[in-house]
Amino acid sequence: MTDRYVVIGNPVGHSKSPWIHAEFARATGEDIEYGRLEPAPEGFDAAVDAFRTSGGRGANVTLPFKQAAFRYCAELSARARAAEAVNTLVLDRAAVYGDNTDGIGLVRDLQNNLGCALEGRRVLLLGAGGAAQGVVQPMLDAAVAALVVINRTAARAQALAARFPRIRGGGYDLLDDAVFDLVVNATAAGLVGELPPIPAQVFARGALAYDMVYGRDTPFLAFAREHGVRASDGTGMLVEQAAESFFIWRGMRPPTRAILSALRGG
Ligand code: ATR
Repeated sequence: MTDRYVVIGNPVGHSKSPWIHAEFARATGEDIEYGRLEPAPEGFDAAVDAFRTSGGRGANVTLPFKQAAFRYCAELSARARAAEAVNTLVLDRAAVYGDNTDGIGLVRDLQNNLGCALEGRRVLLLGAGGAAQGVVQPMLDAAVAALVVINRTAARAQALAARFPRIRGGGYDLLDDAVFDLVVNATAAGLVGELPPIPAQVFARGALAYDMVYGRDTPFLAFAREHGVRASDGTGMLVEQAAESFFIWRGMRPPTRAILSALRGG
């Protein structure tokens, strides 16, 4: 029988995950079906219970349910614990298992697709919400030289920084004379057409600007390009986090290059 998976979110109609996983299945010969579930805001647990009871084997979780998924799991990976959020559920075990592949997805996109080695690099992370929280531990695991978290609400960045060794956090005023090799925008500013208030001097020579938002050109990416800085949206992170979920479920790594270039319209 075909193994069934879903992406759970609200709204979820725009999600590219069903298409990406169908491509992974085709490339690897795995017999899976991958659909969408859109529970009401309070309906996450009931929707997962029903899917699991009907034989569903796993799920990806997107906004606004990643924290609800974290609470739902009986067992958690170390990276899900660090992120305090779950984007991958394994439902075909005695105890529901949750993992978080967002951060490793970003790290793989940077290192494998964009040629941006992280070891020894100075990294600036903008934002302190769920998106930012998910990438801190994987960045530290990649042996960055320095990680600074900056947020509009400075106290939120300080609180996030305090949970991890070796990272600093605060408000945008800390950026007056700081310089970074990689600047990751994990804020929601781009979704409302806004630019986080960063000075152009934050970009070191040869720096990369990365926006975790995908499929749209944000003011942050435009700002970086205007200052001669290489800029990338989050399409590769989307594909790489999906590949890691597929690996968790199926035990094999799907190829990602062709899918990434198809999503980019190449
Ligand atoms: P997510 O889970 O996507 O990270 P979130 O928890 O709502 O969503 O966090 C959104 C992040 O974007 C926060 O860091 C937010 O800053 P505040 O904590 O000060 O609210 C940041 N953000 C949203 N709009 C922004 C803007 N226009 N400029 C700068 N930061 C912004």
